[in-house]
Amino acid sequence: MAARGEFSSRTAFVLAASGSAIGLGNIWGFPIKVASNGGGAFVFTYIILTFLLAYPILMAELVIGRYAKSDTVRSVNAVSTPGFRPLAFLTGYWGMLTASLILSFYAIVAGWMVSHGIGAVAELLGQSQTWFVADSVARSILFSAVFYVLTIAIVANGVASGIEKWSTRLMPVLILLIIALIIYIAMQPGAAEGWRVYLQPDFSKVLEPGLVVDALSQAFFSLSLGVGTMMIYGSYVSKSENLPKLGATVAGMDIGIAVLAGMLVIPAMYVAQHNGVVIYDDAGNLIESGRLIFNVLPSLFDTMGGAGAVVAMLFFALMSIAALTSSISMLEVPVAYASESRGIQRKKAAWLVGSGIFAFSLVIIFNAAWLFDWVVRIATEFSEPLIGILFCVFVGWVWQRDKLLQELKQGSPHVERTLFWKIWPTYVKFVCPLIVIGLLIRSFG
Ligand code: PFF
Repeated sequence: MAARGEFSSRTAFVLAASGSAIGLGNIWGFPIKVASNGGGAFVFTYIILTFLLAYPILMAELVIGRYAKSDTVRSVNAVSTPGFRPLAFLTGYWGMLTASLILSFYAIVAGWMVSHGIGAVAELLGQSQTWFVADSVARSILFSAVFYVLTIAIVANGVASGIEKWSTRLMPVLILLIIALIIYIAMQPGAAEGWRVYLQPDFSKVLEPGLVVDALSQAFFSLSLGVGTMMIYGSYVSKSENLPKLGATVAGMDIGIAVLAGMLVIPAMYVAQHNGVVIYDDAGNLIESGRLIFNVLPSLFDTMGGAGAVVAMLFFALMSIAALTSSISMLEVPVAYASESRGIQRKKAAWLVGSGIFAFSLVIIFNAAWLFDWVVRIATEFSEPLIGILFCVFVGWVWQRDKLLQELKQGSPHVERTLFWKIWPTYVKFVCPLIVIGLLIRSFG
């Protein structure tokens, strides 16, 4: 078997893992959840939940991955005992299935981002953009296919010359794009109202069950937890790196970009409203999120005259880049398994698995809305949190404590003096599973 890949540096890992974390969830999901859940109150709850719950679980995934240095099914098995073997297989396979399910709907949405971006380019070239922006089965198929080809081509090249190379190129572009767009939108009339809504928390909403559950699923989805992507990326981290620090950097980047995306999308919504576009319905609810991104914002760009097409192009480029660095991390989970556990050569594995998931996307496209919603709910509201609990169970209850602590010390010789060392092992054992179970009961109850 070929040698395993590894990220070449700390920065490479941070950019790749942040690339996985930062995606449509940050730039689309987060601002919209903020706007429909009491503005700053949601931001507040989300940040607290990221640190109290998502970061500890992120660390569980990273530490298992780096210990085992293998695909996710084998990694969970590596920290298991013989009695827990069936649960370890269940956890590994379920995670892999969930990563594939998420990719199957994510790639469809990402395809729409790409087609809107190309539509803006067409307009800049004096052509009609209608075909690229009108909802049609043909458009969904064509552009999700384009998106799959990009994702597969990157993953096929492996860790260093695929995932790392493209994440380190694309993430700086993403950050520049988002900052440029924030500045441009902030200068438009109406933006100030958006900033007010965003920054002024309505604290009466902080403890509303709907808000807390939304913030939980957002925190899980946003950090790419509960499917094994962070575990597989952790498996490519060198033993000489300080994992708790790397994990904290990734969580910080993820929050940072979500907060920045709020500064872009929410003021943009209010600029659109200022220009006469409806964003809240008669009952005071925010209009449906798909319409917001694919109708409201484009109609806002249309009102901006010549600059509009450029802004639209940059905005959809931002979305597409964010989606691509996330989708490669999803595909990497089953591809690593196919190549390491099944001995299929990586290139072949990437094309085979990628095509299989694309086939499922086609099923979703042809069955339209209900299947799409169903897959989203099963994967993100149900599977991700439950698998997250299972990862905590393996780290906290099954894995031999000495081995866990030994792994944490690798690359962080002074870890024993940190608060992390004193709290985290007990915390993932008891507190994380209890919080997740409590919130799940609340959301399904
Ligand atoms: N974190 C990504 C986002 O916020 O858009 C979504 C995601 C990526 C979820 C990778 C799961 C995953 F494995």
